[in-house]
Amino acid sequence: MPTQARPASLLFALRPKNQDRLYDLYADLRGADELHWDRYLDAWVATSHDVVSATAGDPRFSSVRYPDIDAVSEELRPLARVLSRQMLYSDAPDHARLRALLSRAFTARAVATLRGRIQEAVDRILDHAAPTGRLDIVADLARPLPLAVICDLLGVPEEDRSALSAWSDPVAAAIGNSRLDADDSRAASEAMEEMLAYLRTLLSRKDAPPAPHTLRALLATGTDDPGQDVDELLANSALLLIAGHETTTHFIGNAALALLDHPQAADQLRERPELIPAAVEELLRYDSPVQLMLRRARHDLDLAGRSVAAGQTVLLVCGAANRDPAVFPDPDVLDFERPGGRHVAFGYGPHFCLGAALARLEGVVVLEALLTRLPGWSLDGPEPSRLRSLNFRGLESLKVSFTPTR
Ligand code: HEM
Repeated sequence: MPTQARPASLLFALRPKNQDRLYDLYADLRGADELHWDRYLDAWVATSHDVVSATAGDPRFSSVRYPDIDAVSEELRPLARVLSRQMLYSDAPDHARLRALLSRAFTARAVATLRGRIQEAVDRILDHAAPTGRLDIVADLARPLPLAVICDLLGVPEEDRSALSAWSDPVAAAIGNSRLDADDSRAASEAMEEMLAYLRTLLSRKDAPPAPHTLRALLATGTDDPGQDVDELLANSALLLIAGHETTTHFIGNAALALLDHPQAADQLRERPELIPAAVEELLRYDSPVQLMLRRARHDLDLAGRSVAAGQTVLLVCGAANRDPAVFPDPDVLDFERPGGRHVAFGYGPHFCLGAALARLEGVVVLEALLTRLPGWSLDGPEPSRLRSLNFRGLESLKVSFTPTR
């Protein structure tokens, strides 16, 4: 029987043309070695759940993305300076301080108050599509909804939202691509500077006082505090904007496609809607929007029996960890009643996704709506194409047709 050659590199697995067999390629990598040195990526690659989760929460590793800003290309440097002030790319003690500043707005309780607004936004989109019998789930729902939610939280007026989306896209593309050319780098840096200039004006507006305890109120208090570094606050507001919508967009697209590919699983949810929160978790595990996290060794150390040198990068492949059979038996099966096993789609440890409760809530509201309001839905047109990105996994578009309703 012919044996399939082990993929030489994670880079090969992540190529656009291999996206359809991504999880098989991960299984080959993990089966050969849960932690291996990749000479093409100049990094260690971790593919087991055990090593990915242990490393993500291990204080021997740093999340600082640009340890030497001067070594970054001139075009990318302005963006790198801003990213370096964001909690996602900071270590203790800065990380804990930045996270504490904003976390009150993202507790499960604070987020639950947004349910009505999320529901209204979803209903508006589906009311519009219902009589036509057609919907592009990515363009019409998965893109605008998370952007609207995070813009609501930040107090961004309707008319400015498309500009924010246009600034966010090149930055997200730059974060998702390790091999940027000068033009892409310059575009991402400029977009970030424009976004910050916009946020600076927005947060200094005194026209309408924000409701207490909201994110907008936290930010307004921060900008008024003479002891607070405003640039740092702005950099983290930009992080919320970008992290708060690109990932959720990909989640909605991936989840909808998985349900279209598994009609029995979709029927199960229609019959037993109480399974929807568990389905959100399983769909996050099954096709994770964030495929990679990055850590760097602070000093020479031992990881899973390997010697990792100070400064070396470890790529933590969440997508592979989430299909690890050691934690998830029959990992390629979509099973909403799967017992135990904690996925790492939101990361693990101190950087665990700050927006997880919000993303989960958006997921629940969207799934309920898609399952009940698009009768007889099916793919409309060719197989949807995947986004070109190394660390995000999502769809360019997902067109469906269904029985029109009034
Ligand atoms: C399904 C949607 C989402 C997924 C899959 C996701 C995934 C992740 C992952 C994997 C991390 C950890 C990265 C690391 O450790 O290197 C993370 C961190 C983060 N996420 Fe999310 N995210 C989602 C939605 C959101 C939303 C809606 C927001 C905000 C409104 C958000 C804000 C953040 C922030 C601020 C961090 C950094 C936390 C820290 O460094 O302490 N995310 N996310």
